[in-house]
Amino acid sequence: MIQNFSELQISPYVKERLAASRFTTPTPVQAAAIPQAMEGKDVLATAQTGTGKTLAFLIPIIEQQLQHNVPGITALVLVPTRELAMQVLEQYNALRGKKLPAPALVVGGLSEGQQLSAIRNGARLVVATPGRLEDYIGRKLINLRSLRVLVLDEADRMLDMGFLPSIRRIASILPRERQTMCFSATLEASVAHLVNDYMKNPVRLAFGSILKPSENVRFQAFEVATDRKQEMLQRLLAKETGRCLIFARTKRGTERLARNLSREGFTAAMIHGDRSQAQRIAALSGVQQGRYRVLVATDLASRGIHVQDIAHVINYDLPEVAENFIHRVGRTGRAGKRGIASTLFARDQRSEVMVLERTLGILMERMKPDLEPAEQWEQKRLAEVARIDALPQPAARMRRLPGEFLQAHFEN
Ligand SMILES: Nc1ncnc2c1ncn2[C@@H]1O[C@H](COP(=O)(O)OP(=O)(O)OP(=O)(O)O)[C@@H](O)[C@H]1O
Ligand SMILES: [Mg+2]
Repeated sequence: MIQNFSELQISPYVKERLAASRFTTPTPVQAAAIPQAMEGKDVLATAQTGTGKTLAFLIPIIEQQLQHNVPGITALVLVPTRELAMQVLEQYNALRGKKLPAPALVVGGLSEGQQLSAIRNGARLVVATPGRLEDYIGRKLINLRSLRVLVLDEADRMLDMGFLPSIRRIASILPRERQTMCFSATLEASVAHLVNDYMKNPVRLAFGSILKPSENVRFQAFEVATDRKQEMLQRLLAKETGRCLIFARTKRGTERLARNLSREGFTAAMIHGDRSQAQRIAALSGVQQGRYRVLVATDLASRGIHVQDIAHVINYDLPEVAENFIHRVGRTGRAGKRGIASTLFARDQRSEVMVLERTLGILMERMKPDLEPAEQWEQKRLAEVARIDALPQPAARMRRLPGEFLQAHFEN
């Protein structure tokens, strides 16, 4: 077990930069991935939410760039959302110090000027969402001929979002002699296509199951009639003071919820796909800076996003698929901290919740509306588990799960 970054074969410069950020002990995925990546191997890594996967690929990239100090873009990180791209960029900025030029962000929704000038000024790293990058490639605004490292962060989500054709077109113009790495907390069977087509004998690193949420999160569940949900939510929020992230299913639902909470006196911001990029950035930074206590969001904010000190994640609406549950609740309980995740559901969603629990191997503590644990909830639950097969089939969407098949596939 590696206790300190100094035990890794990384340069004194990077060690110094890590110490400046107060990072002393590498997380397990970092300790395992950094040496393999620095040897140039392809890496397919899964590790639970909030366990430092970003630095697991950024440190080797920075080492590579310091060692081969040649002009041109040598590393490309593809991510599913603009917010995540910005966060990866920030982490690289914190670590690169003055020895490397500023990286380039390539995402939609923001003006091109700054992005293009970073490229012209010699960025070595590009962090991009696939759509905008393809656009730049098409317009010959970016040259990726010197590329040595390609990282797909949240690869399964990018495939879900339909980015596969785009990723294929991007990969087709990259040098064949390169290193490719994939990082996520979850994997879906579809990722096998990427692995087969773009990775060479990847080293498979797995920390924790790809079907399990973070161990630092305590789960509770509230059965509540749909027309009482809002009231329940307010009671939950009023009981505590910490930062809270609430997931709703739709953009309209997100709007409505954020508006109602603001009206009730909670400082609430919102983030969803129909908001302008400026609004999305203002919401996230407002929460980071403490101007808002509550962030209401769609699953747009469920992947990779790190907001400091989220104490409580609330599933106001159930997630569409079990992976989303893992990522949503993973916005709390990060970097060794603890968190709470509450799930609200209606009576007719009981079976859906139980399937979710069974799939993820978790037990959510059933709570009463007065926020106390329900009496004998455990016995009640056992009785219901016995009847589970007699219950109506769960919605198909809840069954779209990677399952053991995938785990086995990647572990071989
Ligand atoms: N070695 C370390 N020691 C302490 N904190 C760390 C270390 N590495 C990363 N962190 C911090 O942990 C937090 C989570 O890191 P990161 O966002 O990389 O997690 P992740 O594994 O990518 O999670 P997700 O699956 O949600 O994307 C960040 O705030 C990061 O600064
Ligand atoms: Mg991440």
